[in-house]
Amino acid sequence: MSDSRVIAVFSTKGGVGKTTTAVNLAWQAAADGHRVLLWDLDPQAAATWLLSVRQKLRGGAEAVLSGERSAAKAIRETSVEGVDVLPADASYRDLDIALDATKKSGSRLARVLKPLRDEYDVVILDCPPGASLVAENALRAADVVLAPLAPSLLSLRSFDQVRDLLTEDGRDAALVAFLTMVDRRKRSHRDAADELPSRVAEITDIVVPFTVVAERMGEKHAAIGAFAPRSEAAKAYAALWHRVARA
Ligand SMILES: Nc1ncnc2c1ncn2[C@@H]1O[C@H](COP(=O)(O)OP(=O)(O)O)[C@@H](O)[C@H]1O
Ligand SMILES: [Mg+2]
Repeated sequence: MSDSRVIAVFSTKGGVGKTTTAVNLAWQAAADGHRVLLWDLDPQAAATWLLSVRQKLRGGAEAVLSGERSAAKAIRETSVEGVDVLPADASYRDLDIALDATKKSGSRLARVLKPLRDEYDVVILDCPPGASLVAENALRAADVVLAPLAPSLLSLRSFDQVRDLLTEDGRDAALVAFLTMVDRRKRSHRDAADELPSRVAEITDIVVPFTVVAERMGEKHAAIGAFAPRSEAAKAYAALWHRVARA
C-alpha cells in the first residue's frame, strides 16, 4: 500500500464543526474500506470522547511528539471497524511549549507520522482552533486541509486566514472549504450557501445542514452515517469524503 493521505480538519475558529467533520469523515473513509487513523490534537478531546476512547490524563502528547514514546503505542482501537484513534489528553495544552523545545518544531508531527503512513490509508488530524504551533505542524503534515465555514459572508474572513496560513511558507496542501450548520430558513445562510461556492473556487458546493443528528453523535458515540444513514448530513459527509479523496 502506498503512503497514507493526511487530512487536517482546521479552522482559526472554534465551534465551527471541525470535530464533527473529523469523526464523520473517519467513519465514511472506513466504510469505504480504508484503514483510518484519527489523531485528536485538541486538549478538549472531543473526538476521543465521541469515539469512546479513554482520554489519558498525562504524558501522551508531549512524549509522542518529542519522540520519547512511539505514537504506535499510544494508538487505540475504536468500536468502529477500521478506525483507530491517537487520543488527546490534557498535556496537549502544553503542546506548543513542548514543540517549541524540539528541533524543527514545525515539522515534528510530520516526522512522527512518517512510520505510520504504511499502516493507514488515511490520517485525519482534528485540530484545535487558532493559529498555533500545533496548527502549523498539522498544516505542514497535511496533503489536504479541510476547513469548515460558518454560513455567513463573514466566514470569508476565516477562509482567508486559513489560506494565508497555508501559503505562508509555501505549503502546497490542497485546500477544501465547505459551509456547515446551514439553516435554509435563514436568509443569510441561504445567501452564503448560494454565493460563496461560486465566488471562491476552494469552497465546495457540498453543504452540511444544521441538524439535530449532529448533536446526537454525543449520545450515540457514533458517526451520523452509523445511526442516521439516510439523513441529509450523512449524505453531505459522504460527498465531502469523496471530494477530499479526489483532492
Ligand atoms: N451540522 C450541524 N448541525 C447542528 N449542530 C452541529 C453541526 N455540526 C456540529 N454541531 C454542533 O456544534 C458544536 C460544535 O461542533 P464541533 O464539531 O465540536 O466544533 P469544533 O471542533 O470546530 O469546535 C457541537 O455541539 C456539535 O454537536
Ligand atoms: Mg473540535
